Amino acid sequence: MADKSIMTINGKTRLCGVIGNPVEHTMSPIIHNTLSEYYDKNLIYVPFYVKDGDIEAAIKGAHALNILGLNVTVPYKMDVIPYLVDIDDLAKRIGAVNTLVRCENGYKGYNTDVLGLGRAFEISGIKVNGNTVVVLGAGGASRAVVFLCESLGAAKIYLFNRTIDKAEALANEVNEYSGRDLVIPMLMSDIEKIEENDIIAIQATSVGLHPNNEDVVTTCDAFYSKISKAYDLIYKPTETKFMRLVKEHGGEAYNGLSMLNYQGVIAYELWNEMEISEEAAKITFDKLMGAVD
Ligand code: ATR
Repeated sequence: MADKSIMTINGKTRLCGVIGNPVEHTMSPIIHNTLSEYYDKNLIYVPFYVKDGDIEAAIKGAHALNILGLNVTVPYKMDVIPYLVDIDDLAKRIGAVNTLVRCENGYKGYNTDVLGLGRAFEISGIKVNGNTVVVLGAGGASRAVVFLCESLGAAKIYLFNRTIDKAEALANEVNEYSGRDLVIPMLMSDIEKIEENDIIAIQATSVGLHPNNEDVVTTCDAFYSKISKAYDLIYKPTETKFMRLVKEHGGEAYNGLSMLNYQGVIAYELWNEMEISEEAAKITFDKLMGAVD
């Protein structure tokens, strides 16, 4: 008997996929193929391994093959930019693209990682507008977080990093862009100096990532006691030590799985010019949850 989970592939089947190196561990096919099944769309999604130096050929070849859209993962999120015909403003500001949407002469680049984080905030009731946000880390992921919080109207952003130079460079860039002293760079070891209460905290360092589950970027009680809502970009493990400390001090904490899910959902929306329901997004989320080991 035919397996009902395998969709019918025929002459009208459209193709999307993810390009990266390595790409074997991607969870994106789970999101997109589940959505195609849910909405009965004749669209399949596959991983494409692209080796170093082949990114231009991959993008041009994808367009020539009528591929509808691509996700881009490590290490190509910046490398693809010169080969796009257009780029979304926020993606341009962040300097990283993870979604390519087909247009007539090539692809337009978007950053649905950051749009996905924005939607994850909404769903989790994390209201950045008018509030104080603490961002931990000043690397690539933090860069996207800080620009997102700027675009969402944060009142103040404290940017804590072990290496102060990186926090200062990012703060200067965002402050110049926003035209106000929005981002305040701070040394991680000074985290007890935060005075505000009811803060939103975003954990954007790589500390605590599997298999180093018991690592945490700070254990400062004074900091954790001021947090009302927190988001950790890490989703493996599903509860980091950072999240645990937030909860132990009475705050709410969420992991990065909703961001991963919504970056896929939003990419699917862009490719198919449609809106994905929360019911469908919940189904893909649950499947991702089951796939994180
Ligand atoms: P990503 O693209 O995931 O953001 P990244 O650009 O390498 O990765 O940034 C990693 C972030 O985690 C940085 O903010 C880094 O701090 P430094 O700029 O001081 O290196 C932070 N980080 C990594 N390991 C850390 C550790 N053991 N203690 C404190 N911060 C750490």
